[in-house]
Amino acid sequence: MPTVVTEIYTKQPMVRPKLNNMKLLDKLKWRYATKAMNGKNVSQAKIDKIIEAVSLAPSSSGLQPYEIIVITNQEVKDKIRPIAWNQSVISDCSHLLVFAAWDTYTAERINIVFDLTNKIRDLKNEGWENYRKLLLDTYPQKDAEENFNHAAKQAYIALAIAITAAALQDIDSTPMEGFDAEAVDNYLGLREKGLRSCVILAIGYRDVENDWLVNLKKVRKSIEDLVTIMD
Ligand SMILES: Cc1cc2nc3c(=O)[nH]c(=O)nc-3n(C[C@H](O)[C@H](O)[C@H](O)COP(=O)(O)O)c2cc1C
Repeated sequence: MPTVVTEIYTKQPMVRPKLNNMKLLDKLKWRYATKAMNGKNVSQAKIDKIIEAVSLAPSSSGLQPYEIIVITNQEVKDKIRPIAWNQSVISDCSHLLVFAAWDTYTAERINIVFDLTNKIRDLKNEGWENYRKLLLDTYPQKDAEENFNHAAKQAYIALAIAITAAALQDIDSTPMEGFDAEAVDNYLGLREKGLRSCVILAIGYRDVENDWLVNLKKVRKSIEDLVTIMD
């Protein structure tokens, strides 16, 4: 019988490295899912950095199985608000990002990524081509819903990077699943493009006067409850 791995789990106080002066941690402590924004515009240069960071997000097999729709048009934001739980940040943000995952994996979509890789690296590699075949023999045959759920997971990684890139530039953001995805898809015509919205991100600046959450403490479970160390 193999050792049952849970027997060697330990729950012990974590020795915390001195990270207090790490800028990233300060910014992550500063950020919060903003509940009210003040309508101020975020500069294009800062938005460009967020988008570039998103484009650098890792994804399963490097497929980047999603697209981002960046909305600044006020009318469009105002139309989305009522189909997104009437959340005020949708109309009061500067930019609204809609993360839309592929509705499924197709051979064409997979091949585009592998061909791009070969072109950029200017080489054709047997191992890589075998891996392409493996994906082609696996994903397209799967149920579209399963594939969409897998693609959506990749989009959430990009979401986390967008939130982090915003915070590093002192920009607020609100990730939102509180919306009617089908209604948003219909309004933006996403399904016709083989896309389905999975999460949206309002980007802007906090309205300190009107946001009930701005001065409340951040709540997180302890590191000890979050992490199990296996030495
Ligand atoms: C995927 C996802 C969906 C969320 N959906 C909403 C939402 O629809 N509306 C909202 O106000 N906050 C939403 N949140 C914010 C969370 O409630 C918030 O991140 C969590 O309570 C932790 O608080 P903090 O981000 O302020 O530190 C969402 C967060 C994530 C990651």
